[in-house]
Amino acid sequence: MRIISVLSTKGGVGKTTTTANLGGLLADAGLRVLVVDLDSQPSLSSYYPLSFDAPGGVYELMALSETRPERIVSNTVIDGLDLVASNDYQGQLPQLLLNAPDGRFRLSQLLNQGELKDYDVILLDTQGARSITLEAAVLASDQALSPVTPDVLSAREFVRGTLGMFDELEQLTAYTSLSVPPLALLLNRLDETRNSQEVAQGLRNMLTSDQRVTVLDNAFRMLSAFKLAGAAGEPIHRYEPVKPSKRVTPAGGDLIKAVACELNPEWQSAIDCMGIKGAGQ
Ligand SMILES: Nc1ncnc2c1ncn2[C@@H]1O[C@H](COP(=O)(O)OP(=O)(O)OP(=O)(O)O)[C@@H](O)[C@H]1O
Ligand SMILES: [Mg+2]
Repeated sequence: MRIISVLSTKGGVGKTTTTANLGGLLADAGLRVLVVDLDSQPSLSSYYPLSFDAPGGVYELMALSETRPERIVSNTVIDGLDLVASNDYQGQLPQLLLNAPDGRFRLSQLLNQGELKDYDVILLDTQGARSITLEAAVLASDQALSPVTPDVLSAREFVRGTLGMFDELEQLTAYTSLSVPPLALLLNRLDETRNSQEVAQGLRNMLTSDQRVTVLDNAFRMLSAFKLAGAAGEPIHRYEPVKPSKRVTPAGGDLIKAVACELNPEWQSAIDCMGIKGAGQ
């Protein structure tokens, strides 16, 4: 089982889009995938239609340590893609975790318990601001993925906010069995403008020698299909499996596949096989 947190201390950079599309792709590739919506604004929870709506969600998981799937795991209409929905409607979780001695470490323990540990992949979508829930997500994950849009403010916030948080968590875990995961930076909404290209290159240059971060070679381009697929409640590899004629930018489906394979080369063969199987979906 592999746990990946999708995070950024900045809002609106594409965390939910990345989580939903990666989850949908991996499920269609035959993996058992659980996505967990740790954002109190529950956009991931309503991204895909549900075929089973569990009575509980993240609140019961984290506040009550409930891990029984029938209580907290909803099923989406995509086979193999399950969801723990965000339901901390009164915003009580952060305070609760702050008061608990194991607050930052609890999620890690819970996801490795009972039937939850049988998933092949667990993806954690997070809130775009520093919080104890975000820190708990980082500490629960084997790998962190951070979408960054190629503009100066977003790049600055990545260095100040996200890398700053990783440094602090490194110190916090020094005397524990947990460690801070490797961080992959995913450029999102890359376009042809000079500014976008320059900021992307600047980030690559600045981070080449940083041991904590890998900037993925593959990036998400600015594509209206990401928005349209989200509005249609479909993963992008189903919505735009092939490149529309006359467009230069690759198909959304090819972008998410390339990012997934770079993130974890072990997924490559499952993703290659679905090319034929997934075509009519
Ligand atoms: N590559 C892309 N091309 C075009 N639009 C995109 C792309 N990635 C994301 N978007 C759009 O940008 C908006 C913000 O994306 P998203 O909700 O995934 O960000 P977020 O980081 O989860 O935001 P928040 O911090 O509010 O949770 C959405 O409308 C989404 O459809
Ligand atoms: Mg989001």
